[in-house]
Amino acid sequence: MYIKLLPKSQDASLFQQYEALLTGKWITDLSNTSAFLMDVFPDINWVGFYLMEEGKLFLGPFQGKPACTEITLNRGVCGHAATTQKTVVVEDVHAFPGHITCDPRSRSEVVVPMLSKGQLIGVLDVDSATPNRFTESDAQFFEKIVTILLTQK
Ligand code: SME
Repeated sequence: MYIKLLPKSQDASLFQQYEALLTGKWITDLSNTSAFLMDVFPDINWVGFYLMEEGKLFLGPFQGKPACTEITLNRGVCGHAATTQKTVVVEDVHAFPGHITCDPRSRSEVVVPMLSKGQLIGVLDVDSATPNRFTESDAQFFEKIVTILLTQK
């Protein structure tokens, strides 16, 4: 069992607890990553993965309400992060052109692209019902989680 902690980008014990969950089996690790983040990160309503296949993002393992199943790269926050290959922090999703509403409670969002061997393989998407929920250091925390996850790829 891991302890519930407020995540900080330098919280070594939290990252150690996360690493201990990983198995090297990709879908297993994506599933437990979404469950881990939902458990330890306060005030989020959806967290999960969209995975690249045939030039589109398809819904992968997640926690939260059922979500849209595929996203083209020119749409939404996920498409923007995938296209730019940069982490996107959105303070107010209603103000983001083309935002795709899956859970209408979502008000702010972070999307981290996942790159393996220089190729985009998917994104980590984290939503909150609180406007302006995510700081730069939160975004760095999710980037570090993705970096650790990608050591298994
Ligand atoms: N908000 C995303 C769509 C996915 S849901 O939030 C789960 C977007 O606009 O890319």
